[in-house]
Amino acid sequence: MPEHTTFIEQVAISLDDRSYDIHIGQGLLSHPETWSGLPQAQTAMIVTNDTIAPLYEAVLRNAISPHYKQVHTVVLPDGEAHKDWQTLNLIFDALLSKGCDRKTVLFALGGGVVGDMTGFAAASYMRGVPFIQVPTTLLSQVDSSVGGKTAINHPLGKNMIGAFYQPRRVVCDLGTLKTLPRRELSAGLAEVIKYGPIADMPFMEWIEANIDALMAQDPKALAHAVKRSCEIKAWVVGQDEREAGLRAILNFGHTFGHAIEAGLGFGVWLHGEAVGCGMVMAAELSHRLGKVDAAFVARLKILLVRAGLPVRGPVIDAADNAGHYIAHMRLDKKAEAGDIKFVVIDGPGLATVCGAPDDMVRDVINACCA
Ligand code: NAD
Ligand code: GLY
Repeated sequence: MPEHTTFIEQVAISLDDRSYDIHIGQGLLSHPETWSGLPQAQTAMIVTNDTIAPLYEAVLRNAISPHYKQVHTVVLPDGEAHKDWQTLNLIFDALLSKGCDRKTVLFALGGGVVGDMTGFAAASYMRGVPFIQVPTTLLSQVDSSVGGKTAINHPLGKNMIGAFYQPRRVVCDLGTLKTLPRRELSAGLAEVIKYGPIADMPFMEWIEANIDALMAQDPKALAHAVKRSCEIKAWVVGQDEREAGLRAILNFGHTFGHAIEAGLGFGVWLHGEAVGCGMVMAAELSHRLGKVDAAFVARLKILLVRAGLPVRGPVIDAADNAGHYIAHMRLDKKAEAGDIKFVVIDGPGLATVCGAPDDMVRDVINACCA
């Protein structure tokens, strides 16, 4: 084991024949053991983007090359604005032009955008090929690489076109986080913080006590945050893979957040920033529905501010801002016949899904936007 590999932790996702492990540790990319027992094939395709390729493509290529006759790479343009059909097609173009067969293994090397698009490509290329998630952002290590949601955006809505399709393995090399810009670290912390109010208040207390260490990228603190987040996500996904019920709690803050992302144009606010702000709105709604006290909302806000996140939503439409948010939220995947469903906090550490009166939702948006 190379000296810089200080530990390896594993979290299991139990889904019958779709079960897999999440490997978490420092230096995993270059550690040969990480890549033992991969799906067998002649060919592998690394899918990455133009920011991550110069940083980590060579190390991944070297590490997996002994397992395949050919390793190809396709480099996508970076950014949420490119999470679309046109960019997805670049993956299919590369697979077909290289003659990749139905056993070809895809490696998603990057953040949630690369991971979601590679997963969707894997779900649909030749009706399904195996793929491995190699997440390199905090957000993708604690959330998007786990659980098999894959998608691209549509100009009218976030993640509207996609599939449930599980990876064969997730490899979270914490060492890759060293090159992550500060703003992206904060965005990832939003999804870490999310797990506290919805499922685990002791974890929220731990985050409150360790937020400065997390912001300073303390390796032990990051390792615990990634592991505990993955454990909670594994617990939820293991019970409700296709979001028939429980899994919706993982969307705390997302209904409002997706309205911010789509409303401003994809990529203007980062996904984690929109989710963080959306959690404030969802907590405020929970308070107005009589489920949590004002102190809980204030506590969540303080933690998000300490994580470097915005807590006031943008004004997207000066004439009717609340109306603009609501129009976007009616397209949310949880909406039923246009009735918006919100993930609300039913009490600290416990989330549920419910509707809310339009007037109340309007008041929340007006109170929470700049
Ligand atoms: P991202 O993929 O856009 O990555 C953020 C930025 O960091 C990009 O510019 C990327 O190139 C760069 N980057 C990545 N790793 C780096 C590294 N190690 N060093 C330096 N730069 C690096 O954004 P994200 O926050 O990782 O993911 C957000 C996406 O994930 C959204 O599209 C969201 O919808 C999706 N998501 C999906 C799920 C799911 O369950 N599938 C869950 C949450 C979020
Ligand atoms: N990030 C929400 C989910 O995976 O269900």
